[in-house]
Amino acid sequence: MSAIQMRSIEKSFGETPVLRNVDLSIRAGEFLTLVGPSGCGKSTLLRILAGLEAPSAGSVVIGDRTVNGVRAANRNLAMVFQSYALYPHLTIAENMKTPLRLRDLSFTERLPFAGPLIARDKHRKLQEQVEETAKVLRIEGLLNRKPGQLSGGQRQRAALGRAMVRKPVAFLMDEPLSNLDAALRIHMRSELAELHRSLRTTFVYVTHDQAEALTMSDRMAVMMDGDILQLGSPEDVYNNPQDIRVAEFVGAPKINLLPGEVDEAGHARCGEVALSRVAAGAASGEVRIGLRPEHLAVVERDEPGALTGRLVHRENLGADLYLHLAMADGKHRMVVRTGVHESGHIAVGDDVTFVRKRGEAMVFGRDGKRLSLSEAPRTSIPEVA
Ligand SMILES: Nc1ncnc2c1ncn2[C@@H]1O[C@H](COP(=O)(O)OP(=O)(O)O)[C@@H](O)[C@H]1O
Ligand SMILES: [Mg+2]
Repeated sequence: MSAIQMRSIEKSFGETPVLRNVDLSIRAGEFLTLVGPSGCGKSTLLRILAGLEAPSAGSVVIGDRTVNGVRAANRNLAMVFQSYALYPHLTIAENMKTPLRLRDLSFTERLPFAGPLIARDKHRKLQEQVEETAKVLRIEGLLNRKPGQLSGGQRQRAALGRAMVRKPVAFLMDEPLSNLDAALRIHMRSELAELHRSLRTTFVYVTHDQAEALTMSDRMAVMMDGDILQLGSPEDVYNNPQDIRVAEFVGAPKINLLPGEVDEAGHARCGEVALSRVAAGAASGEVRIGLRPEHLAVVERDEPGALTGRLVHRENLGADLYLHLAMADGKHRMVVRTGVHESGHIAVGDDVTFVRKRGEAMVFGRDGKRLSLSEAPRTSIPEVA
């Protein structure tokens, strides 16, 4: 079921196209992330969904209602901004009540006699709603504090709480963690994912940080230059990027890309080394071969199919060790992920021999599109040749 559909959305600012024919279906209850480098159009797409910006062409459908022309306030979406936008002079409880009070005001004003009675009942309901929401967010002990007395993470949750009491169709968040320090940012990832699981409301989340997208999303839409290049689960996008730009953007350290050629037998080769096979007739000639750092393994001695590079930098992360290698051609660098335990003895300047240990290398054609693998059964594809 689609909660939200964005159909053929185009947007230009003056002469400059910022979104090019974007189609996006957001499922009810999912955590969907728009991720891509700065300037690719994420915020613009989110603002068009929110109703803060009009598309140059295309339509936005929420539920079964086309909302083009419907004001932001009437779309029942909750936008959580990067700056928390809490009123500094009000307590957290008062902050959380404000959106509901504003909504009710016009109603009670129209009923002057019943007004006070309704108001008392409303007040009790409001209080209950705020307390319930605060419990979900684990800020029930902070309701009487002012925003200035809260930590960054607590303020974040209070701002979310204020959006939540309205029970919106979806939460829209634009880089909500970017003001936080690194440790809190990582902590908030799991908080937000957990919150999403308990609320089961649709989240549309914008970030330039691929790690946030990978760790929190049900699905992620990778955007570049005003286009969605790929939409899928984090596993799918990471393991099966359909475009070389997606492969490079997702994953840290970055995927290794080597120049290669497809020979007549359909093997994608880098020099002497056959790294993958593509469907017969898929391509011949120049390709780029992608190997993730964790798909490589250091070996003790040279063997057929092995590659060698000189260690120029080692990144020791405690348990993991990333070896940065300068390849013999003098042009390419590769990163191999290994462990401190098994490879800790390797020093800068050493020659390191490594092989592809599992999975197929990814092969991209000259246009950057992924070439499909051979239909041949897995066992007939040589690991190395
Ligand atoms: N109001 C505006 N007027 C003119 N150009 C804009 C406006 N808003 C955004 N842009 C441009 O549109 C492009 C996409 O911006 P944006 O959606 O904010 O990207 P992102 O959120 O992915 O960083 C950028 O090149 C930006 O400079
Ligand atoms: Mg932005």
